[in-house]
Amino acid sequence: MGAHQHGHQHAHQHGGQGAENAALTDPIASWEDRYGSSYRVWTGRVNRTLADVASGWTPGRSLDLGSGEGGDVHWLAERGWDATGIDLSTTAVARARAVALERELERARFITADLGEWCDDPAAVEGGAEPFDLVTASFFQSPVELPRERILRAAAGRVAPGGRLVLIAHAAAPQWSPHHGEDFPTPESELEALELPGDAWGIEVAEVREREGRGPDGAPHLLSDSVVVVRKR
Ligand SMILES: C[S@@+](CC[C@H](N)C(=O)[O-])C[C@H]1O[C@@H](n2cnc3c(N)ncnc32)[C@H](O)[C@@H]1O
Repeated sequence: MGAHQHGHQHAHQHGGQGAENAALTDPIASWEDRYGSSYRVWTGRVNRTLADVASGWTPGRSLDLGSGEGGDVHWLAERGWDATGIDLSTTAVARARAVALERELERARFITADLGEWCDDPAAVEGGAEPFDLVTASFFQSPVELPRERILRAAAGRVAPGGRLVLIAHAAAPQWSPHHGEDFPTPESELEALELPGDAWGIEVAEVREREGRGPDGAPHLLSDSVVVVRKR
């Protein structure tokens, strides 16, 4: 099981009605509400699929899109990557930084930023315009507004020659999730959305993988992930 238990609990126990309404639509308010509703939302561990695909790769510079509480960035930093995570939520970034400090992961760096703005102007985020040897996006999905495809295309543009882009996404809603009506990506739709010039990139993985996860009630459920790994020539 990776970092995703996916509780989707919406514990609106703080703020007034205005705050609750904002939490339903505004991306920052919504994610702050989510992270504020529990001490830790994800497991803190690396997503297993990332560990499966990336453990043999030579470390370099990496960027994680929507890094949350930082499990993937911590794992990469531990393996020698100069690992940056960007996330919208100051609460999540503070949590990720605290863990990096506690574990003395000097190579892990976390930035609070809106990736929608980053993709229009990567240089506006410190270090955001660098070429990266690895860009990851694990469950970079949101029940509120997120220009995900635009961000992924911009991210592909920041990958250095020889570098990789890894996209791990829910391919279907977990059984307990309230988000059943949403569109979920397939490996094919992910590749299409990236609009990669075919001769400049090679496809290393494009498949749906199943794994066992646990619902908020602790019961095991089978989850489907879309996994895409592409490498820039
Ligand atoms: C489902 S969580 C995944 C967290 C982490 N990657 C993991 O695997 O545990 C999605 C993350 O994307 C972040 N996010 C959503 N919209 C964003 C945006 N526009 N810019 C940056 N981060 C965003 C959220 O704050 C949240 O932490």
